[in-house]
Amino acid sequence: MPQREKKSIKLLCFESSCDDTSVAVVEGEIRDEIPSLVSLSIQNQNDLHSKYGGIVPELASRAHLENLIPCLKKVLHESRYKLEDFDAFAATGLPGLTGSLLIGHTAAKLLSMLYSKPFLSCHHLQGHLMSIFLEHRPSFPFLALVVSGGHTSLFLVRSFDDFEEIGVTLDDAAGEAFDKGAKLLGLGFPGGAYLEKLALGGDVNRYPFPQVTTEDLNFSFSGIKSEMVRCVNREKEKLNRSDAAAGYQNCIIDHIVEKIKIALKKYHLNRVAVVGGVACNQLLKQRIKDLQTKGVIESFFAPKPEFCTDNAAMIGVLAFRKYQNQNFSSLDSDVGYTKRPKLKRLQRG
Ligand code: KG4
Ligand code: ZN
Repeated sequence: MPQREKKSIKLLCFESSCDDTSVAVVEGEIRDEIPSLVSLSIQNQNDLHSKYGGIVPELASRAHLENLIPCLKKVLHESRYKLEDFDAFAATGLPGLTGSLLIGHTAAKLLSMLYSKPFLSCHHLQGHLMSIFLEHRPSFPFLALVVSGGHTSLFLVRSFDDFEEIGVTLDDAAGEAFDKGAKLLGLGFPGGAYLEKLALGGDVNRYPFPQVTTEDLNFSFSGIKSEMVRCVNREKEKLNRSDAAAGYQNCIIDHIVEKIKIALKKYHLNRVAVVGGVACNQLLKQRIKDLQTKGVIESFFAPKPEFCTDNAAMIGVLAFRKYQNQNFSSLDSDVGYTKRPKLKRLQRG
């Protein structure tokens, strides 16, 4: 590995909110807006949960325990830092599965205690927002869509540290809808990527899926999902799975893109970023690029797949900014859902 110039602030960061165990080392100077990513390791648990068709929380926590040390050893080796070299330790504190969150959070807290260094408890959704800055530097303000297995929200991002949730799903998250649709079609878990593959070449018009049309900025995927249940039960062995996948995916993406268009207009924005696991979806990215081609937006940003799904690099960016602002967390801080941040203009109905 080539020699690199070491920076003065070095952070060790953990992400274990759901079923991906991830550890990252980031470093930067106090004047830097965003740190550099030095090393990242991610261990997913897809094989473990796929036979159950969904995440089993108890198994997820146990797997985090097994995966954490190998992930940690890998980033220490790659970064050539020792535990005592770090200036602070960070971990995702919420939201997520309690048993899973506790693994990374407790590891970071213990290291902070052991080396008398600050502890930084981070919000998973803010982390996803920060994942954009690992590779891109969009001008502010811009619209950010966080679209993952657990969350679907629109944010108005005014600066690195000033963002507002302007829309949220009222039921399922988009990734959850992909996963449930995939399960109904007998695909593996997590189902988003499988469903996308099955949909390739499928006829989007063969099975009608309902268009969700409301003028507010909130999402709803339960009607689309119910239609998939009806379709599978009605068609039985006659079902063309590829056409069903294509129609279903198209309907989910249509709904998301409609909400993006409403938000752009309402807030006079012309830049869009998409983050979270569903940001890996090619059709979603293509449909937003089409907005750019048509001149509706001037630019569009999405992280590479490794930074879309859960990872500790995004937590590193957030932790670095918290460190700069001396926004340290107490060693007594707990994991779990607390009041959601900056949820000022949530619109319902
Ligand atoms: O961000 P993430 O790793 O976890 C959460 O914070 O929830 O996102 C995982 C979700 C899963 O629901 C998965 O099916 C979905 O992202 N996903 C996709 C694709 N790749 C991953 N959904 C649609 N198309 C994809 N290509
Ligand atoms: Zn996530």
